[in-house]
Amino acid sequence: MTGVQVIAVLSTFIPFAGMASPQASNSCASCHPAQAKTQSATGMAHALELVEACEILKTHPVLVFQEAAFHFQITRQGDKSIYTVTDGKRTFRAPLRWAFGLGSAGQTYVYEINGDLFESRVSFYSSPGGLDFTMGDEKIKPQNVEEAAGRPMFDREARQCFGCHSTASVARETLRLDSMIPGLQCFRCHSDSERHALALTSGDLKGAEVRKLTKMSTEQTSDFCGQCHRTWQQVSLSGTLGVNNVRFQPYRLTNSKCYDGADRRIGCVACHDPHQEVVHQVSWYDSKCTACHAAAAHPAAQVCKVSKKDCVTCHMPRIDLPGAHKKFTDHQIRIVRNSDPYPN
Ligand code: HEC
Ligand code: HEC
Ligand code: HEC
Ligand code: HEC
Ligand code: HEC
Ligand code: HEC
Ligand code: HEC
Repeated sequence: MTGVQVIAVLSTFIPFAGMASPQASNSCASCHPAQAKTQSATGMAHALELVEACEILKTHPVLVFQEAAFHFQITRQGDKSIYTVTDGKRTFRAPLRWAFGLGSAGQTYVYEINGDLFESRVSFYSSPGGLDFTMGDEKIKPQNVEEAAGRPMFDREARQCFGCHSTASVARETLRLDSMIPGLQCFRCHSDSERHALALTSGDLKGAEVRKLTKMSTEQTSDFCGQCHRTWQQVSLSGTLGVNNVRFQPYRLTNSKCYDGADRRIGCVACHDPHQEVVHQVSWYDSKCTACHAAAAHPAAQVCKVSKKDCVTCHMPRIDLPGAHKKFTDHQIRIVRNSDPYPN
C-alpha cells in the first residue's frame, strides 16, 4: 500500500521514474552518485521504518515485558507486529505501524486507533536486547491496559516526531502520513532540491539553483543539524540540565572551549559526513583535533602533554544516559578529571 503512495509522490518530480526502487534518492543518484551510494546506509536514513520492513521486529518475533500487573507482548505475524497488553482480565490489542529509531539507543513504536496516534510505553533496546520502558514513561502509573500500552500523541507532537524522523510528512503545519517517506531522504535536508532535480533533468534550467549547504559557517551548521539534534538556544531555554543534555550535541559542542562559530575545523561536518555512517574508530578523529592542536596550527590551541593519539577517548567521554540504555559521546570537549562534576 505505502509503496504505491511513495511512487505516486515521487512521480510528481522524477521524470525518469522507471528506476528500480521507489527511493527518492534515485532522482539524485545519477548526478550525485557518491552521496547517494552511502547515504541510504546511514542511521538517519533509517530514523523511521514501517513495521513491515522493520529489521528488529523481524529478527525478534516475540518480545515480552512485565510491569507489576501488566504483561506486554509484541508478536510477529507475517509482515505485521501485533502489540498486546493484558492484566489477566482485559487485553489491549493493536497492530504497530511505525518504528522510530534504529535501536542503538532505543526503538519506539507508534500505533493508530480510530485515527489517533499513540506512542508505545515500552521500547526495544539493543542492550539488553529486549523491551523496557520508553524513556520517561516509567513514571506513568497506568490505571488500565490502554494506559499501560501507550500515550496519545497530540497533533503537534506527532508532527514533530515524524518531522524529525522522516521526509515529506509535514506540509503547511499538517501531518501528511500519506506522502510520508520513512527516514531522512536527500530532500529532507536539501529542501529545495526537488525543484533543482526536475529543472536539471528536464533541461529547463529555471529553478535549477540549489542551496549550497557546503557554504554554511560552523555556527549555521550547528543550527542546521540542531533543527533535529536541538540547537544551543533551544537547550538553554528549556533548562535541560545535567546528563540529560548530553544527547544534544550542538549545545554541548558550543559550550566547549574548542568551539568557534567561524572556524570550519570544529563544525559538525568536519567530523561527520551526513551522507556516511558514523565512524567508530577513535584514531580517525585525531586529525580533526590536530587540525588545531598542533604546533602553529592555531594561535590559542595547545598541544597535549599526555598523548599524541586517540584524543577522543579522553576528551570526549562516553556518558551513560539513564533510561536510554546508551552511552552518548560528550561533545563538550574538555579535560576530564574524575573529581569534576558533569559540566552543564
Ligand atoms: C541532472 C543532474 C542532477 C540531478 C538529477 C540532481 N542534481 Fe544536484 N547538482 C547538479 C549539478 C550539475 C550541480 C552543480 C551546480 C552548481 O554548482 O551550481 C548540482 C549541485 C547540487 C548541490 C549543491 C552542491 C554544493 O556545491 O554545495 C546540492 C546540495 C545538490 N545538487 C543536491 C541534489 C539533490 C538532493 C538531488 C535530488 C533531489 C539533486 N541534486 C539532483 C546536477 C544534478
Ligand atoms: C531532519 C532531522 C535531522 C537533521 C536535519 C539532522 N539529523 Fe542527524 N539524526 C536525526 C535522527 C532522527 C537521528 C536518529 C537516527 C536513529 O538512530 O534512528 C539522527 C542521527 C544522527 C547521527 C547518529 C547516526 C548513527 O548511525 O548512530 C549522527 C552522527 C547525526 N545524526 C549527525 C547529524 C549531522 C552532522 C547533521 C547536520 C549536518 C544532522 N545529523 C542533521 C535527525 C536529523
Ligand atoms: C526535534 C527533532 C526530534 C523530535 C521532535 C523527535 N526526535 Fe527522536 N530523535 C531525534 C534525534 C536527533 C535523535 C538522535 C539522538 C542521538 O542519537 O543523539 C533521536 C533519537 C530517537 C530514538 C532513538 C534512536 C536510536 O537509534 O536509538 C527514538 C526511539 C526516537 N528518537 C523516537 C522519537 C519519538 C517516538 C518521537 C515523538 C514522540 C521523537 N523521537 C521526536 C530527533 C527528534
Ligand atoms: C542529514 C541531512 C542531509 C541529508 C539527508 C543529505 N544531505 Fe547532502 N549535504 C548535507 C550537508 C550539511 C551538506 C554540506 C556538507 C559539507 O559542507 O561538507 C551536504 C552536501 C551535499 C552535496 C555537496 C557535496 C560537496 O562536497 O560538494 C551534495 C551533492 C549533496 N549533499 C547531495 C545529497 C544527496 C544526493 C543526498 C541523498 C542521497 C543527500 N545529500 C542527503 C546534508 C544532508
Ligand atoms: C571534533 C569531532 C566532532 C565534532 C566537531 C562533532 N562530533 Fe559528533 N561525534 C564525534 C565522535 C568521536 C562521536 C562518537 C563516534 C562513535 O564512536 O560512535 C560522535 C558521535 C555523534 C553522534 C552519535 C551519538 C553519540 O553521542 O555518540 C551524533 C548524533 C553526533 N555526533 C552529532 C554531532 C553534531 C550534530 C555535531 C555538531 C554540533 C557534531 N556531532 C560534531 C565527534 C565529533
Ligand atoms: C577549531 C580548532 C579546534 C579544534 C578542531 C579542536 N580544538 Fe580543542 N581547543 C581549541 C582552542 C582554541 C582551545 C583553547 C581555548 C581556550 O583555552 O580558551 C581548545 C581547548 C581544548 C582543550 C582544553 C579544554 C579545557 O578544558 O581547558 C582540550 C582538552 C581540547 N581542546 C581537546 C580537543 C580535542 C580532543 C579535539 C578533537 C576531538 C579538539 N580539541 C578539537 C581549538 C580546537
Ligand atoms: C590518555 C588520555 C588522553 C589522551 C589520549 C589525550 N589527552 Fe589531552 N590531556 C589529557 C589530560 C589528563 C590532560 C590534562 C593535563 C594536565 O593538565 O596536566 C590533557 C590536556 C590536553 C590539552 C590542554 C593542554 C594544556 O596544556 O592545557 C589539550 C589541548 C589536549 N589535551 C588535547 C589532546 C589532543 C588533541 C589529543 C590527541 C592528539 C589528546 N589530548 C589526547 C589526557 C589525554
